Amino acid sequence: MSRDHLAQLREAAPVILPSLLLCDFGNLEREVERLLAAGVQALHLDVMDGIFVPNMTYGMPIVAAFRKLTDLPLDVHLMIEKPEQYIRQFQQAGADVITIHAEAVDDVASTLRDIHSLGCGAGVAINPDTPVDAIVDALPEADLALMMSVNAGFGGQAFNPIALDKIREVRRLNSDVLIEIDGGVNLDTIGRCTEAGADLLVVGSAIFGKPDYITAVRDLNSAAVAAS
Ligand code: DX5
Ligand code: ZN
Repeated sequence: MSRDHLAQLREAAPVILPSLLLCDFGNLEREVERLLAAGVQALHLDVMDGIFVPNMTYGMPIVAAFRKLTDLPLDVHLMIEKPEQYIRQFQQAGADVITIHAEAVDDVASTLRDIHSLGCGAGVAINPDTPVDAIVDALPEADLALMMSVNAGFGGQAFNPIALDKIREVRRLNSDVLIEIDGGVNLDTIGRCTEAGADLLVVGSAIFGKPDYITAVRDLNSAAVAAS
């Protein structure tokens, strides 16, 4: 199932994934309806533990809540210490893709293999200060490489263009891996992301900070496609 989802996303790239960090948690059903009406093809869920990053969000129950509301692929971004201890629970909650931070585990490749063994797509993320070198050995095990364009932890931060060079470097190293970018992606920056080779574009405030998701997603999509 999740492997099909990955193939669909690859086929549809560039794809905009709304980051639900800033959505209305008082009415998830309505948020999903509005995002479906805007034509989104996958959802990005940010899990933070207050230890790996200085912020807390939510865990498995919210992933499970979205799973009940939609068949869209759920791309779960774990910004937590010891993610290997929780991947089974996130898979059981309904995650299709689970992305762990290289900075949070001792053995990235083995954690990616564990994610695969549960039937999920496996992603590896790095913060702006972490070089691509840190994931070179693990890249063959990854379905997805997430280049953070802000320090993981909060929505609404300014875009760090260091991620663009890293996207190009990852693409040189591995022609197959899906490349995702996350943080500060908006109408001003999205074209540079797809031009650099990003397949998946995570967007928080540039969707949820707007009154009309349909217009926001359409304009972002046009800018992304025009530059790809
Ligand atoms: C940051 C999260 C992002 C964030 C994106 O740690 O991983 O997904 O919510 O939000 P914006 O688009 O506002 O930077
Ligand atoms: Zn994220």
